[in-house]
Amino acid sequence: MRKKIVAGNWKMNKTLPEAEQLIKELLNKINTEQKVEVIIAPAFVNLPLAVELTQNSDIEVAAQNMHFEDAGAYTGEVSADMLKAIGVEQVILGHSERRAYFNETDEVLKKKAHKAYEKSMTNIFCVGEQLDDRKAGKHFDVVKSQLQKALFDLPLQAYKKIIIAYEPVWAIGTGETATPEQAQEMHAFIRETLAKKYGQDLANNVRILYGGSVKPGNAADIFSQPDVDGGLIGGASLKAGDFDAIVEAAKKL
Ligand code: PGA
Repeated sequence: MRKKIVAGNWKMNKTLPEAEQLIKELLNKINTEQKVEVIIAPAFVNLPLAVELTQNSDIEVAAQNMHFEDAGAYTGEVSADMLKAIGVEQVILGHSERRAYFNETDEVLKKKAHKAYEKSMTNIFCVGEQLDDRKAGKHFDVVKSQLQKALFDLPLQAYKKIIIAYEPVWAIGTGETATPEQAQEMHAFIRETLAKKYGQDLANNVRILYGGSVKPGNAADIFSQPDVDGGLIGGASLKAGDFDAIVEAAKKL
């Protein structure tokens, strides 16, 4: 059985006092009963506080990005060691906003994925097609290529700490959601692609999250698909009530 995950990607939202308030609300509301893994990914500056406040709770903390080098002249960047030193052991890599606005290519993401593996960090790796890709019927090819180029030089054991997030770019922050069938179809394809490369056992164990306008009202339908192991939540992770409702939906499955 793959344990479901509900992960909140806060993106560039919440000042330190706002983050403190939201985390405290989440701590009051969320009760996973160990049935769901809950992760929040605040901005870098809010991570130390997030780690401190969530100690001894069911909530785990991830970063939204990191650099692939250990240290050096990379102004404005943050390394894996810096994250680990404050107790952050998980990182979202390859989010479509990083790919689109910060020119993160498959090559760069491969280096980041390898760094996460080297440092034993959990890599929540995002893939997903643009609307044009889907209209042209290329969505499977695009996702396969993103996986192959960034992750397929990693050894089998790396996947113990890899979570895949399928996020169709056209569904992110748009209010538009993939139908449960579209999500299932792509998740099954991702699992099959992993199975061909690494074997069925590995593929059966990797958790694949759906992301793109998940809300309390649609979470249960999407999460109940056999190959959907939870969600990466943007907008709805910024409201404690909504995020908790999504966690509750995952818990019931
Ligand atoms: P959204 O974002 O839930 O606001 O669509 C999802 C994401 O980008 O991870």
